[in-house]
Amino acid sequence: MQRGIAEQERIKEITFMTDGCGPSVACGSMLVRLQSVFKHENGRFVRLIAQEHTGAFIEGDHMSDRTKTVEQRQALYSAKVIVESSNPSNRGRMPDPDACGIIHGCCGDTMEIHLRLNGDRIEEATFMTDGHESAVACGSMLTKMLRGMSLEEAGRITPEDLIAALDGLPKAKVHCANLTLNTLREAMANRRAEEKA
Ligand code: FES
Repeated sequence: MQRGIAEQERIKEITFMTDGCGPSVACGSMLVRLQSVFKHENGRFVRLIAQEHTGAFIEGDHMSDRTKTVEQRQALYSAKVIVESSNPSNRGRMPDPDACGIIHGCCGDTMEIHLRLNGDRIEEATFMTDGHESAVACGSMLTKMLRGMSLEEAGRITPEDLIAALDGLPKAKVHCANLTLNTLREAMANRRAEEKA
């Protein structure tokens, strides 16, 4: 026999904490929000999860980039992010790079940075990512910034510098700048032995 959920079985309050990235916060936040759906609409639980999920992604800018309208992109991103992601520079893997870093981010996206060096100068930098548009914008902008820099100068670039160069990123996408800079550091640490000499 199907029956409603008794009052004493209902969850009165849920909170969450995480040190994870944007998607982890979104999951925790969503679970908390479902509490009200559970209380008021328990017969339609599954359908309301889907509605809430979509709504949160629109409000919280986690929505898939593929489904964003032009207006939604313009509301979320700076003009520079839109330009860099629509027409990225330096995208692609470099044949036989002098240094290469690959990191799989906690969000599930991968970032690669490839460097061509001349002594301690970066002659060329390229990136690859399966991430969304702010990850592409970060890779494009960072690789442009790196050209001609010494490794020491490159090592001083912070995620905040990259975000400033893009005229800002939505809070939930700050992670993309961290992932891109961490990948650059990984590449510099992995440079070929003869380049380190
Ligand atoms: S959320 Fe994965 S790289 Fe931006």
